[in-house]
Amino acid sequence: MGKVTFLRHHKPAGPLPNHLQSMVSANESRLGCFFGNIFYFDEVTSTNDLALEWAANGAIEGTVIVARAQTAGRGRQGRRWVSLADGGLYASLILRPCQVLPLLTHTVGVALAESLRALTDLEIELKWPNDLVIKTKRKVVSEYRKIGGILTESAGCSGSCQYVVVGFGINLEASNLPIEVAKLATSVEAELGYKVDSARLMVESLAAFVRWHKILLERQTDVILNRWRALSPSSEGAHVEWRRQSEWHGGMTVGIDDGGALLVRKENQIERVLAGEIRWIL
Ligand code: BTN
Repeated sequence: MGKVTFLRHHKPAGPLPNHLQSMVSANESRLGCFFGNIFYFDEVTSTNDLALEWAANGAIEGTVIVARAQTAGRGRQGRRWVSLADGGLYASLILRPCQVLPLLTHTVGVALAESLRALTDLEIELKWPNDLVIKTKRKVVSEYRKIGGILTESAGCSGSCQYVVVGFGINLEASNLPIEVAKLATSVEAELGYKVDSARLMVESLAAFVRWHKILLERQTDVILNRWRALSPSSEGAHVEWRRQSEWHGGMTVGIDDGGALLVRKENQIERVLAGEIRWIL
């Protein structure tokens, strides 16, 4: 890593836990730029905060910050991301340059969904823009519960973007979820009835991202978009409400366009939803 000395609120990274270290060593050839650049912390405020700070201070592409717990984990729209010790996978990747920014979150989504599916056989789906979800049937009603999420942040993007930080969280343990979150969320353990090997999931997620990031850098965006669409049945035919400025609008999803924006039919018009708050009526 480049010289990084600015570690305001955190103790220095500790050694990788033994099992994670052996998984990393055994998968050197699949980890690309991440190999040798994984930094492990017992507790941080937010891996994204630390990664943004490191990136601003010169950390190289491929730096990964992993934490056992976060005291101020956050999600989109300033929401809290509950991050108890070992309750989930909490990690942030530093990437640069980022000329492929628009589809980066989609690419990470595909990589995470595929690694989770391969390791657990769970039918993980993607829900626009950044959710990993699972469809569960309680009584007769189907509903989506969130199992993971992605938070992509960047700086210096006017003209040339200098770096981008992609943070992801996957709920691993059933007891990690406070009651108010448990209604809408789930965890790998809650779905499977047993715990998964979190080090393996970490390494498989990074290896899957290496594969998909290569495809993105080769500008094979169709391959990424097609896979994303296949993993996201809710991006077609679902009722949604979204907020533009202070007004809520309603419509039916009809897919995502080539820039990754959600397309929604409202009356006779197709609207492009790019960001902001969205409610799914599934
Ligand atoms: C979302 O669904 O809104 C995105 C959640 C992203 C959570 C991860 S956990 C690791 C990284 N650090 C954070 O503070 N947030 C992301």
